Amino acid sequence: MKDIVVKLIAKEVGLKMGDVENLVEIPPKEDMGDFAFPCFGLAKKFKSNPMKIAEDLAKKFRKELPKGISNVDFNGAYVNFFIDKKILAKGVLAGAGVIEKKARGEKIMVEFSQANTHKAFHVGHIRGTSVGESLARMAEAFGNSVIRANYQGDTGMHVAKWIWCYNKYHKKESLKKDESWIAGIYVDAIKRLTKNEKLQEEVNEINWKLDSGEDEALNKLWKETRKLSLDALEIIYKDLNTGFDKYYFESEVEQEGKKAAKDLVKKGIAKVDEGATIIDLSRRDDSSKDYSAEHSGEPNDKDKNLGVWVLLRSDGTALYSAKDIVLAQKKFEDYKLDKGIYVVADAQNLHMLQLFKTLELMGFKNVDKLKHRAYGLIRLPTGKMSSRTGDNVLYSDFKKEIVEYARKGLSERVSGLSKNELDARSLVIAVAAIKYSMLKQDMGKTIVFDKKEALRFEGDTGPYLLYSYARASSIVRKVKSKKAVKILDLKDSEVRLLKKINSFEEIVAKAYENLAPNLIANYAFELSQMFNEFYHSCPVLGSEEEGFRLKLVDAFRITLKKSLDLLGIDVLESM
Ligand code: ARG
Repeated sequence: MKDIVVKLIAKEVGLKMGDVENLVEIPPKEDMGDFAFPCFGLAKKFKSNPMKIAEDLAKKFRKELPKGISNVDFNGAYVNFFIDKKILAKGVLAGAGVIEKKARGEKIMVEFSQANTHKAFHVGHIRGTSVGESLARMAEAFGNSVIRANYQGDTGMHVAKWIWCYNKYHKKESLKKDESWIAGIYVDAIKRLTKNEKLQEEVNEINWKLDSGEDEALNKLWKETRKLSLDALEIIYKDLNTGFDKYYFESEVEQEGKKAAKDLVKKGIAKVDEGATIIDLSRRDDSSKDYSAEHSGEPNDKDKNLGVWVLLRSDGTALYSAKDIVLAQKKFEDYKLDKGIYVVADAQNLHMLQLFKTLELMGFKNVDKLKHRAYGLIRLPTGKMSSRTGDNVLYSDFKKEIVEYARKGLSERVSGLSKNELDARSLVIAVAAIKYSMLKQDMGKTIVFDKKEALRFEGDTGPYLLYSYARASSIVRKVKSKKAVKILDLKDSEVRLLKKINSFEEIVAKAYENLAPNLIANYAFELSQMFNEFYHSCPVLGSEEEGFRLKLVDAFRITLKKSLDLLGIDVLESM
C-alpha cells in the first residue's frame, strides 16, 4: 500500500521513489490518515510555503484517487493519505508474511559466535550467536546467498593453559566431549595460576612448544582436545537453531599472520618497537573513513584515537590482530563476497576499528564491504544463578536451569503430556525465552537476563509470542468454516491488525538495513498484542464475518511465524 502512495507522490513532485519512500511517515494519530508526506523539503523547489504545497497536492490527488486510496487530506505541511481498508484487507489475506524477494543476489558472509576451543561457551556467546543467525536469515529472506562463518580461537595462551593444567593435574581423567568438563579444566588452570604466578612460566613453555609444533605428544593432545571442544560446541549450536557453512580457525591464519606483519614493516606501515611489531595508528589524520556507523552506543568512534596496535609479540608469536588481517583477506579469496559482516561484542569495538583502518592503509580494496555489528554485554542478576566459571555462567548450566523452569511453567498449564513431549516443548520454550529476551533489546544495550522475567507467559517475552502463535494455530486448525469470506465494515482492532501485518516487509527491510534484529522482535510483540486485542473484541466463531476473520487469524499466524523464524526461534503448534 505504501508503494501506491510513494509512486503517486514521486510522479507528481518529480522526486526519486527511494527518496519519497524515506520521507513518507506513519502518522501518530489515526485521523491523520495511514501515511503522511511532509512538504518542508519542497519549499525551495516549488518556491512556495510547505503548508500551501501540502494543500495543493492534497487537492490535486483528491481529484483522481488511485485504486487503494480512499481519501487524501492535508494537515499543516503534511499530505495525509487514507487507504481503502477493504483493499488493504484483500491484500493482507493474499500475501501475509511474504517478502517479495528483491533478488539482491549478493554474496554475504556473516561471521558470528566465534566461541573458542578449550574454554566455556558462556551466556554472552548466546547473544552473538542469536544475532548472527538472525542476520543470516534476514539476508537470505531478501534473496542473498549467505555464508555462515565461525572463527574460533583454537591456539594461543588459553589453549596452552588448558593443556598445561590437564597434563599436570587431570591426566587421569578421560577426555570428555562435554562443554562443562572442558570449561572446568580451564577454570582450574586460571585458579592455580592466580594462586601461584610462577607457574605461568610452565605455561609459556607449552605455548611456545605448541607454536613451534615440535613436540609430538603436545601436538597430538592439542588435536584431540580441539576436536572434542568443537564437537561439544556443535551440540550447543543445534540447540540454538544454528549452524555454519565455513569454519575458520586462528591456527590456520597464525603463520600467515606473522608474514603479514613482517610485510607491513617492509612497506613502512608497521615498525619493530622494543622487539614487538606494532602499528602506530594514533597520529593518523582521520579525515578518511568512518567505520563507526554500525557501532551502536559509540557515536564518537570517528574521532577516537586508535592508539598503537600490536601485531607480534617480541618472541615473534602472532597476536589476535595479525591473524585478523589475514582472515579478512582470506574471506575474499575464498568467496567473492559482496559484504562481510562481523558480529562481535562491543568490547572489541576498538579492535575492529584498528583492523579496518589497517586494512585501509594496506590498500585492501574490499575494506568498504566489511561491517561490524557490535552487541552489548549480558549480565545475570548477581547471586541468582550458579556459576562455576568465575563471573560467567556456562551455557550448559544455564540451559539446564532455564529448561527446568520452563518445564515447571508448562506442567502448570497443560497436563497429560508424555515425558518426551514435555521435554521437547520445554526446550523450545526455553530457547525462545532466552533468544527473544536477548534479541528484543537495542543491540548496544547491556542486558540483565532475568529468567523469571524472560519466561513469563504474559508480557514482552518469547513464551508469550509462542503462546499467541499456538492460540491462532489452534483456531485455524479446529474451525473449518464453510462461510464465504466477506469483508464487511471493519472494526478498529481489525484495521490495526491488518495494517500491522501489512507492514511486515517494511520492518524486515529496515531491520536488515540496520542489522538490527530487535526491530523484528519488537514488531512480533506488537503484532501479537494487536492480535490478542482483535481476538478479544471481535468474535470469530458464528459471526457474520467468520470466513474473513478466520482468514485474518491465519494471516496473523503466518506473519508471526515468519517473524520468529527470522529471529531463529521455532514455534509450537500447541502449548
Ligand atoms: N574468538 C574471539 C574472542 O573470543 C572473537 C572473534 C571475533 N572475530 C574476529 N574476526 N576477530 O574474542
